[in-house]
Amino acid sequence: MKHYSIAIDGPAGAGKSTLSKALAARLGFLYVDTGAIYRTVGLSVARQGGDCGDPADVAARLPSLRLSLTHGPDGRQHMLLGEEDVTDAIRDNAVSRYASQVSAHPAVRDFLLEMQRELARQHNVVMDGRDIGTVVLPQADVKIFLTASAQQRALRRFRELEERGQQVDFEKLRQEIVQRDYDDSHRAAAPLRQAEDAVVVDTSQLDLEQSLEALLTVVKERLPL
Ligand code: DC
Repeated sequence: MKHYSIAIDGPAGAGKSTLSKALAARLGFLYVDTGAIYRTVGLSVARQGGDCGDPADVAARLPSLRLSLTHGPDGRQHMLLGEEDVTDAIRDNAVSRYASQVSAHPAVRDFLLEMQRELARQHNVVMDGRDIGTVVLPQADVKIFLTASAQQRALRRFRELEERGQQVDFEKLRQEIVQRDYDDSHRAAAPLRQAEDAVVVDTSQLDLEQSLEALLTVVKERLPL
């Protein structure tokens, strides 16, 4: 049976995970958060006392990595390390850095490639990440490059942290975002870039509901739903 795949790539803070999840729920597709998979690798290496920045050290640990992924009845993706559910643990701030480090190693990217493709073979998916439309699912039925200005992304992040009672310097946050964009799009392995056949959706001027409508419009033009 033919399964449909929707690839959503873009920089951090453009609303990818929130919107991909909402889109998947609207379409009845499985939402696959590939960032969570990289986070799980980073968490595992760090817990073992490994060096996430060292490609050889990380590569040597991959064969014994017992990483798996399940979806709960509510559609929520759970990440497992062995029997342990690490879905919440991977959201720790330190894990963002580990994930970013391990995701730059080609051995890690190769190791995770087949797992991501298999999910798309078995299900209708909305898969979000950085290289889904370019590397993981180059044949995806719909490719969306979701973006927003650095200013807007910093503002959203600022408000999110503020709501959690965390005080941060806005300008510093904005500069971090600009730096992360640069790093993500200039790394050697699978840099963040827009697929040639991707549709760009810029959410700078849109709220969540408007952004979701924009995505649904793109999808409905391309899929016989
Ligand atoms: O989207 P996120 O913040 O959960 O992603 C965690 C890290 O993994 C981030 O540094 C980018 C990286 N990543 C990647 O390189 N390729 C993907 N397909 C998804 C995430």
